Amino acid sequence: MSIPSKALSTDLRRGAGTLFRKHRWLLPAAAIANGVAVGAAIVLHVDYRLTFLAAVCLSATSFGWGYLERFLKLFPWPTFRDFARGQYAETWNAMAESPKTARVAVCGASDEREVRASAAEPVRNLIELVSVTDRDDVLEIACGIARVGLELAPRCRSWMGADISANMLHYARQRLQGVGNVHLHQLQSEGLRGLGDGAFDVVYCTNSMAHMDELDRWRYVRDAFRILRPGGRILFDNVDMTSDRGWIAFTNLEDKYRNAEIPPYMVRFSFPEELMEYAARAGFGQVKIHKRGMLVIMTAVKPHGAQDGIT
Ligand SMILES: C[S@@+](CC[C@H](N)C(=O)[O-])C[C@H]1O[C@@H](n2cnc3c(N)ncnc32)[C@H](O)[C@@H]1O
Repeated sequence: MSIPSKALSTDLRRGAGTLFRKHRWLLPAAAIANGVAVGAAIVLHVDYRLTFLAAVCLSATSFGWGYLERFLKLFPWPTFRDFARGQYAETWNAMAESPKTARVAVCGASDEREVRASAAEPVRNLIELVSVTDRDDVLEIACGIARVGLELAPRCRSWMGADISANMLHYARQRLQGVGNVHLHQLQSEGLRGLGDGAFDVVYCTNSMAHMDELDRWRYVRDAFRILRPGGRILFDNVDMTSDRGWIAFTNLEDKYRNAEIPPYMVRFSFPEELMEYAARAGFGQVKIHKRGMLVIMTAVKPHGAQDGIT
């Protein structure tokens, strides 16, 4: 195939993908209509060529319907191919274009009850590993719709959620209505500029590092040092490349994207050493790695008497 016709077929596939993703009812409706047409043709003894044609249309639309359902299960989001990976705000605003898509984007659950239940594990990790208590001012980096914040706020003195996506923060605000000790902060770019020095006791980032580039992961760990009080704690997690489940997830991605465009939000996992290195380089002490299922969780403490973290 020549290059222009290859480009044309890619464009056609993309166009069809966008159309059917947007109007999911089209193929099922066409299949049902064709089924009715075949039935009517048989009952009414219509010319066998027309009956055959209706049967071919029924097969094609039924196949398309089945294919579409499988495809959307595997690729629930558009590829957002106009965005580069670093265009975090654009990408995540597009993912959070409604409350439902925002819920699915943060934890895969479309139902609010499931979203609330899914926060139990990160809250448990925060309490067990960095001992969050009601004396702590806590910041979550990349808080999404405050899935964790809503559950953690009653357990700390104050909770602040920071995120780069205005849409995510919009839904976070709705979910946090009536909760008194919470604040939201929209990040204008990667890093924690705009948040004051020594303002927090705990800074954490859960379920989000996988979507960021390594330099931005580093920026957040480095800036966490600045905004923590001495003795303050951090918790950062990511999918662990060295765990069996993490490795399976990694190799599954290879299959999934073999012939598909890699979207800007595609997950990238971590080795434990990566997270430990960021913490040590930022100046943290007591750097520890905790392996929990497919997660690698790094915790560390800002030493008392620390000034500028970068060593
Ligand atoms: C998978 S969601 C997780 C949200 C939340 N931490 C949770 O577990 O429910 C990822 C979040 O990271 C945010 N995000 C992505 N890249 C970011 C960046 N570079 N800086 C800040 N937030 C970012 C997105 O807007 C989104 O809210």
